[in-house]
Amino acid sequence: MVSTRSQQRALLLAATLRLAHAAALPDPTAAPAPVQVAAPIITPAAIRFDSRHSYLQKRNLLDDIKSGVDDIAHSWASVLGTDLPSLFTDGIPGWFDGLPTGTQVLSSLGIGDDDLAAKPTEVLNVPPYANWTDQGWNVRFHGNVYKIPDISQSKIDDLANVFLIDTSVDKLPADEQANARNLTRSIFIVQQGHENVSMSLEPAPSQGGDGEPGGGNAVTAPGGTQNLTLPYETTIEGDFDVFVPIKQNGLLAGNETKNVQRLNVYTNGTLSGNATAFLVPTEGITFISDIDDILRVTKIYDPKEGLLNSFARNFTPWMNMPEIYANWSRTLPNNTHFHYLTTTPEQATRNYMDFIYKTYPGGSFDTRPLNFSNGNATLSIRLFLLNKIFETFPQRKFVLVADTSNSDVMTDYPQLAHDYPNQVQCIFLRNTSATDSSDWFPYNTAGFEGLNNKSYMFFREPNDLAGLDIYNGQCLNETIPQNVTFSRQDEVLGIHGDSAGRKLQSSATLGFVVALVVAMVMTL
Ligand SMILES: *[C@@H]1O[C@H](CO)[C@@H](O)[C@H](O)[C@H]1NC(C)=O
Ligand SMILES: *[C@@H]1O[C@H](CO)[C@@H](O)[C@H](O)[C@H]1NC(C)=O
Ligand SMILES: *[C@@H]1O[C@H](CO)[C@@H](O)[C@H](O)[C@H]1NC(C)=O
Ligand SMILES: *[C@@H]1O[C@H](CO)[C@@H](O)[C@H](O)[C@H]1NC(C)=O
Ligand SMILES: *[C@@H]1O[C@H](CO)[C@@H](O)[C@H](O)[C@H]1NC(C)=O
Ligand SMILES: *[C@@H]1O[C@H](CO)[C@@H](O)[C@H](O)[C@H]1NC(C)=O
Ligand SMILES: *[C@@H]1O[C@H](CO)[C@@H](O)[C@H](O)[C@H]1NC(C)=O
Ligand SMILES: *[C@@H]1O[C@H](CO)[C@@H](O)[C@H](O)[C@H]1NC(C)=O
Ligand SMILES: *[C@@H]1O[C@H](CO)[C@@H](O)[C@H](O)[C@H]1NC(C)=O
Ligand SMILES: *[C@@H]1O[C@H](CO)[C@@H](O)[C@H](O)[C@H]1NC(C)=O
Ligand SMILES: *[C@@H]1O[C@H](CO)[C@@H](O)[C@H](O)[C@H]1NC(C)=O
Ligand SMILES: *[C@@H]1O[C@H](CO)[C@@H](O)[C@H](O)[C@H]1NC(C)=O
Repeated sequence: MVSTRSQQRALLLAATLRLAHAAALPDPTAAPAPVQVAAPIITPAAIRFDSRHSYLQKRNLLDDIKSGVDDIAHSWASVLGTDLPSLFTDGIPGWFDGLPTGTQVLSSLGIGDDDLAAKPTEVLNVPPYANWTDQGWNVRFHGNVYKIPDISQSKIDDLANVFLIDTSVDKLPADEQANARNLTRSIFIVQQGHENVSMSLEPAPSQGGDGEPGGGNAVTAPGGTQNLTLPYETTIEGDFDVFVPIKQNGLLAGNETKNVQRLNVYTNGTLSGNATAFLVPTEGITFISDIDDILRVTKIYDPKEGLLNSFARNFTPWMNMPEIYANWSRTLPNNTHFHYLTTTPEQATRNYMDFIYKTYPGGSFDTRPLNFSNGNATLSIRLFLLNKIFETFPQRKFVLVADTSNSDVMTDYPQLAHDYPNQVQCIFLRNTSATDSSDWFPYNTAGFEGLNNKSYMFFREPNDLAGLDIYNGQCLNETIPQNVTFSRQDEVLGIHGDSAGRKLQSSATLGFVVALVVAMVMTL
């Protein structure tokens, strides 16, 4: 349900965009500007621009939240007794950003150090990948050490309500209440810095009977049992992220096997730090897949729905996407690897893993580590994580999958294709604005200029991807009209199709459009 108010806002914004767009039309008689591929620098935007959402989106979310009353602001302040999080003041670098962490949680909730000391230490062990090197297998252990403080249910409900628009926990059905409380408890944890982390490894049983559909092509490792301690203590945010060469102990060499090998990883001293490590052969195809609005229904571009889908509702697969992935997992060679890379904050990782492992092929994971959570304006976390996996597997090919509503994806994916031309096999982007009328946020296809137009595809539904021969580089389903203008576009706003007179030629023009839109929105 869209409120009249937001409908009005959407229409106004659409009108403004059209206006701004028309104003920005280049002189049709002028010579076409030379093709320019954006340089791989992260240019500071005129306004704070986050990796995950466009500013327009943030603006709208901010507005929506504020319209929900200043109460929300008050509830933050009264529940936490802290200053407003940057979410409300700073151009929203993501829904969860600026959340209190560590000792802030403690002091704002009046929890004593002794109470916390009595709580068990928990470890989030994010399923790692490993590459084959001269020193053997090299595993990237990453995750977080934390404790869950005692917070009363009523306080948890207050905190959860902050994330809901036009509703509250007590109005939700029982299963959704449980979800909202679960995620809220997972967010308000106290991270443990300066901890040593020890792991114990052993072969993981083969896929099949263990609830991972498709299994991500992995086999039971023929060895690898060992204990190890990470070389560094956790950061002050409780994070660890380090490559550790492990002992062979019977494992197959990555340059000699055609199979992904899986190891069970247990963290010493806790039952919560279990994970599966994926030892990935030197060559083969790795799928790097975003999750929101591509593997599950999120509607991140529609704040009220997006928040409900993230905080309350059970995660739901997007159409028949699981079939498409299962088919890839079954039919592509055994050295195919799946890596799920989302910029959702680390605290939500367990919910995402839980959903993925029940629904999609098994694979390694990346989420947004905490030390990136407070809006590092100079660094795109997605590009950082993407570069890391590309550098770790210089001989593998990558298939990149996401949707058009992430502005960082729209720059980072084509950028990787420019930077690693021999490694990006295919880019698949779901055009959310083609099928969902609530997505009126424009996306930008400028980064795709100069790329082989058979190496990427914009699609509308999972079946558009059926029947592609990815192994042989057939990434385009010729029956799907592409409409790529190499500029700003949006199907809902009717900005697409023939690009002739519509190109925005320079970032100055773009800046102008953005500024105009922002000015309009702010006056609403
Ligand atoms: C595999 O890698 C190891 C270690 O780098 C090396 O000693 C060995 O010769 C390689 N084998 C092949 C078949 O390339
Ligand atoms: C929330 O749910 C996830 C996934 O089911 C589970 O792993 C996790 O332990 C729960 N977290 C809390 C704080 O209850
Ligand atoms: C972590 O391990 C190192 C090396 O063994 C040791 O020097 C350090 O004191 C340990 N830190 C803690 C907090 O136990
Ligand atoms: C690893 O450590 C566990 C106890 O944490 C011990 O039971 C086991 O024997 C050790 N395994 C090896 C291979 O050292
Ligand atoms: C594992 O943890 C126990 C206490 O929980 C400790 O006594 C033991 O030394 C640890 N083992 C390693 C290998 O860190
Ligand atoms: C982690 O593994 C241990 C050992 O197999 C098991 O006892 C424990 O229940 C597992 N924890 C979770 C959360 O599955
Ligand atoms: C993939 O691995 C399985 C299990 O080892 C094996 O039976 C199958 O033949 C392999 N497939 C290919 C194409 O190598
Ligand atoms: C922010 O990004 C810069 C540039 O890459 C980096 O040097 C710095 O360490 C980052 N800061 C944090 C807190 O991650
Ligand atoms: C393995 O990964 C590390 C970390 O990204 C990287 O520095 C190294 O070059 C990789 N090794 C090989 C042989 O690809
Ligand atoms: C391209 O535009 C046509 C006409 O509006 C639309 O039907 C189609 O869905 C668009 N294609 C994609 C991939 O969005
Ligand atoms: C292309 O897309 C259509 C429509 O979704 C689908 O029926 C077809 O299987 C897809 N694949 C190929 C190779 O045409
Ligand atoms: C399944 O995947 C294979 C290989 O990628 C492809 O040839 C086949 O057409 C796919 N089938 C469907 C229904 O997607």
